[in-house]
Amino acid sequence: MIINNVQEHEFFNAEVDKQTGYETKTMMVIPMFNRHNTIIGVFQVINKKEGSFTETDLRHLMLAASYSAETLDAAILADENDQTQKEMIFLMSEAVEKRSKETGNHIKRVAAYSRILAREYGLNEDDTYTLEFASPMHDIGKIGIPDAILNKPGKHTEEEFAIMKTHALLGYEILSASAKGMLKAAAIVAYEHHEKWNGKGYPLGIKGDEIHIFGRITAVADVFDALGSDRCYKKAWPLDEILALFKEERGEHFDPNLVDLLFEHLDAFLEVRDKFTDNESTVE
Ligand SMILES: [Fe+2]
Ligand SMILES: [Fe+2]
Repeated sequence: MIINNVQEHEFFNAEVDKQTGYETKTMMVIPMFNRHNTIIGVFQVINKKEGSFTETDLRHLMLAASYSAETLDAAILADENDQTQKEMIFLMSEAVEKRSKETGNHIKRVAAYSRILAREYGLNEDDTYTLEFASPMHDIGKIGIPDAILNKPGKHTEEEFAIMKTHALLGYEILSASAKGMLKAAAIVAYEHHEKWNGKGYPLGIKGDEIHIFGRITAVADVFDALGSDRCYKKAWPLDEILALFKEERGEHFDPNLVDLLFEHLDAFLEVRDKFTDNESTVE
């Protein structure tokens, strides 16, 4: 639409000019369409420097408007894609944790703890964000563990434990089928969250920084939370015992740098614990 007599136009709202002191004289307006031909916005230019807008101006603007619409549409789509990945990850993780009768808030807390550790460790914002949503998937491989073993109260026999351990590889196999960023990260987390700094973990028995930082962080976040919660095989530990264990396992089970960060930022951890308690189900 070309409007060269804006002030007299029936659609013109003079309020903005009145408030700002700006004087709108001429205007060109082009609708912006997405790939489904739905209008997602309007491309507008105001006050041509000299003279009034012409059909040639309009053609140029239509080109600019269609490029902008494409860019905007792609950005909206990318954002939706990101949201969908996040939601899928959350729902899948919750499905698994429900089956092992762990509370949905376990995965929320693990996500939040991982975020704190990633940020304080110095990972960039992108990686921190990715890990926050990937770490709750650590136990997705438990889908493949029989109920009788998964939910057995009390200690596992050696054989049962061997079967339990397969959940790391299973999770990796499920998730590594995807090339998507968050799911790729989740595959690493599933594979390496039971590795130990001293090389005595499973399934690979790798040690130190051979273990991906995503795996090392999730290990700390997961154990910190698991010890502090009731499970089918044990009661929640008091905080001082949990901290004593981390002190003992510093440089053994866990990356010593991450244990230091846990102690340094304990306040933030406890804040998360208070926010996502197991008593009330928080649906967000
Ligand atoms: Fe696990
Ligand atoms: Fe867990």
